[in-house]
Amino acid sequence: MKLTSLPLPAAALLGVCLFAVTTLAQDPPPARAGRPHPPAPKPTNLKILPKTLTGDQVMDIMHGWEKQLGVECDTCHAIDPNKKRPNGRPALNFPDDSKPEKETARQMVKMTMELNQNYTSRVESKQNNEAAAKEVSCGTCHRGHFDPPAFAAPKDEEHEQEHEREGADKSQAQR
Ligand code: HEC
Ligand code: HEC
Repeated sequence: MKLTSLPLPAAALLGVCLFAVTTLAQDPPPARAGRPHPPAPKPTNLKILPKTLTGDQVMDIMHGWEKQLGVECDTCHAIDPNKKRPNGRPALNFPDDSKPEKETARQMVKMTMELNQNYTSRVESKQNNEAAAKEVSCGTCHRGHFDPPAFAAPKDEEHEQEHEREGADKSQAQR
């Protein structure tokens, strides 16, 4: 998703906000092969993402979340009991807000945008324009898991060994 793909006034208005949004959708899905698909319907219930996003832009973001959290659409979206997909499987009601996971995700989106806007963007290396890849995304914490695994700090001896190894590497590099 690029700013240039939006009408100019919308892009100007969104500025910073969209900048953060693009980084939430780190890995856009590969272009769908085969017959062209109709554009996704216009979203009707966006509360955190910019309301000017097209259906396709929202879909790109959703596919990114799927991969970054290692989940499927139905982790956050409720089943629509009255609708079936062409393959017979139940359809999802995307605008519906009944799953608590969806609301949690909204809070997470807000948090991630704030992290990028107010914190990581102020780190000096960032201002010196190091790769924008350092943006915080869902995957920064989730690493492909719905419940981010706890980080276990290395035990003291492991930590020492690691340092010794690094020292050895350095002195070899100097030779
Ligand atoms: C981690 C939770 C999560 C996952 C996984 C997820 N979504 Fe969403 N989705 C949301 C949230 C939250 C919103 C609303 C964003 C907002 O309020 O700005 C949303 C909004 C949408 C909308 C817009 C609905 C409307 O009309 O307002 C569509 C369409 C959608 N998702 C499709 C999908 C599809 C398709 C997948 C799987 C590829 C998917 N989502 C996976 C959380 C998720
Ligand atoms: C700064 C780290 C961080 C970032 C960035 C982050 N999350 Fe989370 N998220 C967490 C942690 C930690 C938890 C687990 C809270 C718990 O269950 O103890 C969590 C939990 C969740 C849950 C609820 C899981 C459950 O078990 O119900 C959802 C949904 C979620 N995150 C979605 C997202 C989405 C979508 C993004 C990106 C827009 C995101 N998160 C970005 C740290 C993060």
